[in-house]
Amino acid sequence: MFIQAFWSLLVLVASTVLASPAARASIQARQAITALTTAQITAYKPYTYYASAAYCSPSTTLAWSCGANCKANPSFVPVASGGDGDGIQFWFVGYDPTLKSSLCRHGNVEFALETMNSTLFTGVSSSVKVHDGFGKEQAKTASAVLTAVKKTMSAYSTTVVTTTGHSLGSALSLLDALYLSIQIPSATVNFIGYGLPRVGNSAFANLIDSKFPSLAHINNKEDLVPIIPGKCRLLGYVHPSGEKHILDNSTWVACPGQDNTSSQCSTGDVPTIFNGDVDDHHGPYDGVEMGC
Ligand SMILES: *[C@@H]1O[C@H](CO)[C@@H](O)[C@H](O)[C@H]1NC(C)=O
Ligand SMILES: *[C@@H]1O[C@H](CO)[C@@H](O)[C@H](O)[C@H]1NC(C)=O
Ligand SMILES: *[C@@H]1O[C@H](CO)[C@@H](O)[C@H](O)[C@H]1NC(C)=O
Repeated sequence: MFIQAFWSLLVLVASTVLASPAARASIQARQAITALTTAQITAYKPYTYYASAAYCSPSTTLAWSCGANCKANPSFVPVASGGDGDGIQFWFVGYDPTLKSSLCRHGNVEFALETMNSTLFTGVSSSVKVHDGFGKEQAKTASAVLTAVKKTMSAYSTTVVTTTGHSLGSALSLLDALYLSIQIPSATVNFIGYGLPRVGNSAFANLIDSKFPSLAHINNKEDLVPIIPGKCRLLGYVHPSGEKHILDNSTWVACPGQDNTSSQCSTGDVPTIFNGDVDDHHGPYDGVEMGC
């Protein structure tokens, strides 16, 4: 389906300091649609580079030698990576001593809402449903990612984990954020994603909101991926809160609530895929185009 046309990926970053200015702004901006300051936008940039870097296939030696966007976070220390960019999406996990840590992938998928895998998502209510294809993709790499994140946390004495990715990778990294928060209760997990498609139903969005108050999913202009799977709101798909929308004049705004229908937010700005522009999907996000 459409997702095959868009490379997608996932980066996981852990840091000792969670509350970036941008994250704090997202909490304060629950009520009105407010513009982000330059400093708030800049705070997302390392994550933007990580999400982009996930388009580069990880080498077996974990050499961190992909494109310019990878090198934009030169202090990154890779710990583990996997995937083949085909049956299994690329991912990586590592540590960033400045931010502090990381993982990524790519992808393609299917469509129904299903209950979550109770082995991986222990204790999650059966009312919580997610996109079947995303759930299956996440399950393929779940245990390898968990092992790598535990190893990273232990090696660098950090408890803060941030998952990030673009497109399908964003969806997978959102599921990984939930998965890691359940499997590693001592971790403080957050998610910063780009071009996030809808991942689950209303109960899922509420669960995500309750677990990740600093979550950010950043959408560029008329990117149509954030409003799919198609007709999703009719099918019961709901976005979690925390949208940051980049307007046509490049102002970033924080959109309060889930699926805000204001024309300044993706759901209102792109009512159908025919109102969307596929060229906006890869960016630029504050000057960064997704890609290796
Ligand atoms: C849940 O995930 C585990 C680990 O990936 C897998 O072995 C198991 O088959 C999955 N269960 C279902 C019902 O899909
Ligand atoms: C950008 O567009 C928004 C929405 O139209 C407007 O409110 C804002 O003032 C504009 N900002 C700049 C810097 O032009
Ligand atoms: C959308 O944003 C407006 C602020 O412009 C806010 O009043 C409204 O509650 C939000 N909608 C949702 C669904 O949260």
